Amino acid sequence: MNGFSLTSALLACGLCLGNIGCNGAPGKPGLQSETVRPNQVLDFPTLYKQNCAACHGEEGKLGAAISLSNPVYLAISGVDNIQRVTASGVAGTSMPAFGQQADGMLTDRQVAILAHGVVDWWGRPDVLTGSAPPSYASNSVGDPAQGQKAFTTFCARCHGADGFGTSAHGEGQIGSLVDPAYLALVSDQGLRSAIIAGFPEQNMPDWRSDLPGPGARPMTDQEITDIVAWLGTHRSPTPGQPY
Ligand code: HEC
Ligand code: HEC
Repeated sequence: MNGFSLTSALLACGLCLGNIGCNGAPGKPGLQSETVRPNQVLDFPTLYKQNCAACHGEEGKLGAAISLSNPVYLAISGVDNIQRVTASGVAGTSMPAFGQQADGMLTDRQVAILAHGVVDWWGRPDVLTGSAPPSYASNSVGDPAQGQKAFTTFCARCHGADGFGTSAHGEGQIGSLVDPAYLALVSDQGLRSAIIAGFPEQNMPDWRSDLPGPGARPMTDQEITDIVAWLGTHRSPTPGQPY
């Protein structure tokens, strides 16, 4: 999205907010909602609010799913992956397919506006300067035994020795990563993206880690793949059943 259209998107949003009822509350049609059909909504803030905020958070963070405002995530995934996932969804998770080819509600143009929009709004082009980031998708086979070791080094102090979670975090309880009911709702790429990009707003570091001391170093691409493989060994064919 270029600067001009972003500015007009902002203006459109500002006007909309100042115009009570223009979001089309039932029974209260606003001046604009009478004329703008859903597939004609072309400004990023409205598209994001209507389709994504419920799961990814109002400000692209602190939602139930990965933060789309995390600049490290945006730099490593890139517009193409974001556009593909937005159109096609993630099978087996609650991430819907929004593209019309997949029976979603959004036109190709709207999907493109969303993918470019998150990057334009929340991306920081220089965020990876000076680092050698892992690839977005894994390109090797994971070794669960090595993954358990890497988990102990990089994750256990917050997520517990075996991944069951801890209450050690200042903000409160950290949930289990090895509960089959959790793993049933998240893909391997979802886990990988979380490990690579972290959750800055909740003090989970990105792959560069923030381990104190002389041994401090970023995780390798292979270690990330191995941790995902180890977490995957806890998946159950019958999640939700007693185990
Ligand atoms: C009903 C909840 C829900 C809604 C609504 C939703 N998402 Fe998601 N989204 C998820 C979940 C859950 C995942 C993680 C899926 C996984 O495990 O891979 C996800 C993953 C993603 C990813 C991929 C993250 C990665 O690992 O690379 C992108 C990109 C994304 N969503 C964009 C969007 C956009 C854009 C919208 C709005 C058009 C949207 N999502 C709406 C739940 C949702
Ligand atoms: C400094 C503490 C800290 C470290 C180190 C850390 N995490 Fe986290 N992590 C958190 C917090 C806090 C959350 C958000 C709270 C939650 O989801 O329970 C989180 C969330 C997650 C999530 C998302 C859970 C969800 O509900 O979707 C995954 C996956 C995850 N961490 C994996 C890891 C892995 C794997 C490592 C090691 C490579 C790691 N984390 C290292 C603190 C940490």
